Amino acid sequence: MRFVAANCLREGMRLAKPLYRGTNTMLSSGITLNNLYIDGIRRSGYSGAYIDDDLSRDIEVIDVISEELRMETMNGIRKIITTAQQGHRSARPLNISAQVERIVRELSGNRDVMVNMLDLCSFDNYTYSHSLNVAVLSLVLGMAMNFPVGDLVALGSGALLHDIGKVFINKAIIQKRGPLTPEEFEQVKTHSRVGYDYIMAEYRLPPRNCRPILEHHERYDGSGYPAKKRGTEISLYGRITAVADVYDALTSERPYRKALPPNEGVEYIMASAGTLFDPEAVNAFTRKIAPYPVGTSVALSNGWTGLVVRNYASYCLRPKLRIYQKDGAAVEPFEISLKDDFNYLNVTISGAS
Ligand SMILES: [Fe+2]
Repeated sequence: MRFVAANCLREGMRLAKPLYRGTNTMLSSGITLNNLYIDGIRRSGYSGAYIDDDLSRDIEVIDVISEELRMETMNGIRKIITTAQQGHRSARPLNISAQVERIVRELSGNRDVMVNMLDLCSFDNYTYSHSLNVAVLSLVLGMAMNFPVGDLVALGSGALLHDIGKVFINKAIIQKRGPLTPEEFEQVKTHSRVGYDYIMAEYRLPPRNCRPILEHHERYDGSGYPAKKRGTEISLYGRITAVADVYDALTSERPYRKALPPNEGVEYIMASAGTLFDPEAVNAFTRKIAPYPVGTSVALSNGWTGLVVRNYASYCLRPKLRIYQKDGAAVEPFEISLKDDFNYLNVTISGAS
């Protein structure tokens, strides 16, 4: 399968992964796209879709966590948010730690996989999807930094709930598409503290689990909020969650902003190491995140276009490629490894295609 951007989807293409509206299936895998479906995909806010064709049939895109666990966790987050919105206590609060433990177990099975965070997410489930992505990405970084399981569960629990405080902010401000007034921004900035207090009181999680909620907008150089903490005044959990939060926000399609392609999101994070973000967290991030995920197309400096077939840990800019175009003209596909083939040492990826 391969990823095709929403504006490049065409009639007759066959969907390789299902697309959801909320937690319901909008289009099943295997379906042949027509213009009506394509229009629906674009309007729902999907940045693209995975399709199957002759060029990509044998390419497998490995999900870091299963679709089942993903939907179940998103449903759990939805319940926590709804309970908070209704202002009453949950009779049976979700066992957050147990849920995060399951995510950790699945991720442990994929330890060597470069993480493909190219996300299929529609506008209507952005909140839940973003919460889960930030948790998964934070956990991947924690694992790259050799955290023991107990620390991973603590980190993941807070990361999963990092934005819960937004429930208590005026909806009109949260959903506003234009720039916020200074007063509105001050209100938004309260969500870290309010969310932290709420989860501590209602779910009785240990304080260290809640640090990502309180600190995910703190910045390494002291430019963040709510407390303008800097460096190691911010917990390691907070520093990791900040990286995960910003990367996922940048690479997600929003009603008011196009998603950045993964390589540009990675570049932004790398460029902010030591200023906005903890260099150690950024280092773990660059070792685990694929800027050019398997199944995406890239343009090369020699005029070729290829499909990413495989990523190598620590060589994230030198994947294995299936070349299918030269100077825009189709060619009989063949594979090259930018990491291993010495003939291509001077060839670089010039961008996502
Ligand atoms: Fe936030």
